[in-house]
Amino acid sequence: MTTTSPTTAPPAISALGLCKSYGDKVVLDGIDLAVPEGTVFALLGPNGAGKTTTVQILSTLIAPDAGRARVAGHDLTERPEGVRAAIGVTGQFAAVDHLLTAEENLLLMADLQHLPRREGRRRAAGLLRRFELTEAARGPVSTFSGGMRRKLDLAMTLVGDPRIIFLDEPTTGLDPRSRRTMWEIIRGLVTEHGVTIFLTTQYLEEADQLADRIAVLDRGRLVAEGTAEELKRRVPGGHIRLRFSDAAELEAAARHFGGAARDLDELTLRVPGDGGVPALRAVLDTLDDAAVRAESLTVHTPDLDDVFLTLTGHGTPDTATEMAR
Ligand SMILES: Nc1ncnc2c1ncn2[C@@H]1O[C@H](COP(=O)(O)OP(=O)(O)OP(=O)(O)O)[C@@H](O)[C@H]1O
Ligand SMILES: [Mg+2]
Repeated sequence: MTTTSPTTAPPAISALGLCKSYGDKVVLDGIDLAVPEGTVFALLGPNGAGKTTTVQILSTLIAPDAGRARVAGHDLTERPEGVRAAIGVTGQFAAVDHLLTAEENLLLMADLQHLPRREGRRRAAGLLRRFELTEAARGPVSTFSGGMRRKLDLAMTLVGDPRIIFLDEPTTGLDPRSRRTMWEIIRGLVTEHGVTIFLTTQYLEEADQLADRIAVLDRGRLVAEGTAEELKRRVPGGHIRLRFSDAAELEAAARHFGGAARDLDELTLRVPGDGGVPALRAVLDTLDDAAVRAESLTVHTPDLDDVFLTLTGHGTPDTATEMAR
């Protein structure tokens, strides 16, 4: 077992002041990052934040207008071929050839990597097994579901055995079960193979589940970076939301919860609290003592959506309305 300390080993990916504009539009406005080897880094942001652009720059597909970066020990602009030899990229849109079978796609990748035939076949078979695609391997990819294509896409990236993998929105469009399978595969790459993963996502839960460190990208700038726990600690605590059947009940309850915010349209009361059992019990006891009946109750623990709202002043599209209350 190797004993590389994350504090002394040079980062697998580092960037300083990356900038990119298209015409007047500033897409990246000075991005700094450092990703230690053998860890998962998530770049989290809404549509148009600049995630794909960052991946394209770090994987040498496009050049930055300013800034420097090193990937796998190679300077991005001075030694792009060194970077390319060390990385694998799974783009946002599946790169599989639909006319070929899954097996043929993998063998094609092996050929492109100049692997000997026998080694190529061995790797292809191993990857098909690992991704549970063996049965479908000889059918045309045009008959695959979106999730199967996404898995095949990642399998193709792994043919070259890269040490650093860029995954641009690896689970967008996948159903919950396929998403979990993909998460397990990604975790396995890190824990069993020591691979470094740089992934982008719009899913806060995904970053929370997978990443050692998360950077929040908003309109071309990093607005926060840290572990999921660190980011969550930066936002106010959660709350318990009580819904009532009419305004009179709501008003009666509100008298017993000092710091609670009322929503008269929704007939809800938002009681601040950490979402823990004691806080919940206290709320129920107070309702009991006051002889007020709540129709429903939801517990809201702080999540990364809250982080996003706190850090950027605007929520992700789904949560903006709820959090504005
Ligand atoms: N080749 C290009 N020419 C002009 N504008 C571009 C180009 N590529 C990206 N952009 C713009 O840069 C911004 C960031 O795009 P990018 O694809 O990096 O966002 P993203 O965070 O990956 O978004 P999504 O979640 O939708 O994939 C967008 O406003 C986009 O329109
Ligand atoms: Mg994108």
